[in-house]
Amino acid sequence: MNKERENSSSIALAKKYKKCRECEKESKEEQGKGFAIEDRFDMCSPECERKFYIKDKECGECKKLLQIDIRELQSGKLECSSISDSYKSHWNSTFFCNEICKNIFVKKESIKEDEEYQIRKKERVHGRIRDLIPQKYKTLETDKTKILNENYDKSLFIWGGVGSGKTVFVTSMAKKYIRDDVNILWYSFPALIMKLQKAFNSGETDFNTGKKITPYGIAEKIALSEKILFLDDLGAEKITEFVKQIMYYIINEREQRELKTIITSNFSLADIDRQIDPRISSRIGGMCKVLKFSGKDRRIEG
Ligand SMILES: Nc1ncnc2c1ncn2[C@@H]1O[C@H](COP(=O)(O)OP(=O)(O)O)[C@@H](O)[C@H]1O
Ligand SMILES: [Mg+2]
Ligand SMILES: [Zn+2]
Ligand SMILES: [Zn+2]
Repeated sequence: MNKERENSSSIALAKKYKKCRECEKESKEEQGKGFAIEDRFDMCSPECERKFYIKDKECGECKKLLQIDIRELQSGKLECSSISDSYKSHWNSTFFCNEICKNIFVKKESIKEDEEYQIRKKERVHGRIRDLIPQKYKTLETDKTKILNENYDKSLFIWGGVGSGKTVFVTSMAKKYIRDDVNILWYSFPALIMKLQKAFNSGETDFNTGKKITPYGIAEKIALSEKILFLDDLGAEKITEFVKQIMYYIINEREQRELKTIITSNFSLADIDRQIDPRISSRIGGMCKVLKFSGKDRRIEG
């Protein structure tokens, strides 16, 4: 109770005083007592008034010492990186002796911004390669550069024997898209099937949506994704009914929606037709340019 009374009386006391905006010296409001205060400025003296409005600043570009009068700045006679209403933020901005210095400074800043953008892009690319591309293929690049650099508007079906360099080729292609800031999805098909089977057995729920994670849900996301879909090693797993269904569902959706898909397989289209499902081979054949990789197994080279 006593404390409260003390506080309110000290506020009442403070109200009788004004603070100089420059030196913060308190002074009585009444003229003639203590400092004389000009209401216009809230300053205790002409010196403080000068100090408040005029400051020594370096030119942001050539570092020449400038005496800046903030009042001139607001009238547009001086160059400054930002004009604002408050004096405080004015002093925080960058000043220039003239238009030329300002332009040089602005140009350098934009170069710096470009460099920062490039650094951020590099980090983004690096992160995506780290997250998407299998370890072994992160630094390996295909020597089939001619077909790599061709422009394919169609999807691709790349088939050939084990070790003919299919995965090296498609990972090179995926990395190229990533470096060009194109979004991709990468799946080793057998690993994807394992993931779907696991979802089938576990019945986990999605942390974000609270819905049950189903193999259909996962497959749907992949099938409908606008990102370029890489499916490596289609048909390498045991072809169960479940695998056939998933394969057909994804391929069929992507064919109908004309979504770019890059597939590799040890199977030819004729093999898929005979051994897996003719509906799958015909859709792949319709949507894809077919590339055959031949040659002996490069894993056992040398
Ligand atoms: N361009 C290449 N440069 C160096 N090594 C390669 C290249 N292409 C393939 N290889 C080697 O051949 C192996 C098999 O290639 P990979 O792409 O995995 O074959 P596939 O996927 O067709 O079975 C790789 O592990 C790699 O050692
Ligand atoms: Mg492979
Ligand atoms: Zn003062
Ligand atoms: Zn200058």
